[in-house]
Amino acid sequence: MSSFIDTHGHLYAEEFDNDRDEVVARALAQGVETIILPDIDSTTRERMFQLEAEYSNNMHALIGLHPTSIKNNYKQEIKLIEKELLQRQFIGIGEIGLDYYWDTSMRDEQIYSFEYQLGLAQDLHLPVVIHSRKSLDDIFLSLKRFSGVHGILHCFPGDINHAKRAIDMGFKIGVGGVVTFKNAKLAEVVKEIGIENIVLETDAPYLTPAPYRGKRNESSYIPVIGEFIANLKKTPIEYIAETTTNNAKNLFNI
Ligand code: NI
Repeated sequence: MSSFIDTHGHLYAEEFDNDRDEVVARALAQGVETIILPDIDSTTRERMFQLEAEYSNNMHALIGLHPTSIKNNYKQEIKLIEKELLQRQFIGIGEIGLDYYWDTSMRDEQIYSFEYQLGLAQDLHLPVVIHSRKSLDDIFLSLKRFSGVHGILHCFPGDINHAKRAIDMGFKIGVGGVVTFKNAKLAEVVKEIGIENIVLETDAPYLTPAPYRGKRNESSYIPVIGEFIANLKKTPIEYIAETTTNNAKNLFNI
């Protein structure tokens, strides 16, 4: 059986409180052997670390302040992240970024926090996992100021020109359930880029792939996304699994 990596699963979220171990068992049974846990903010961080410790062979936590968590206490939140980074090793910084969909009132603070964390990644030579919503132009503006920083553009929201630009800057395109949605722009992007530029992700519990759309998302659906890409690219699923797994391993150095 092919082995896969879910590069983006919030399995510590309360949506999984009733059956988390079963969710992980189902993922492992589908060959999803590694799950990267993207951080949100200090309210869920301890639970994330606990889960990572419980499944230390299969999970790796990132650290970072999510753009929708940028509130008045953002400087305090960033201090906590810096403290954690001094205490232990992480495989990457995330998820960080800019989100202008829900709220633009903290736009300047979002940009400040994003760039501050890009600076941390640059200093520590760590990859970043970037969340972008209605903000891709500003994301590129910020990235241009931090040369050498690379990572994943998670839940890639752009067109083929954006994708080429991201790939030129050393980024991987995060592909999840959205690719399976009807008329998805992401499917057009995936058709045109090489598999060496793609990593698989769920964003569980959100963005569930078809035909499970509407249900809670979980890491065991990664092969469903892989199969969809295999059909788009007219390539065996084994090749998708192997290539995207290697991409993620090389990126995170795991
Ligand atoms: Ni996420």
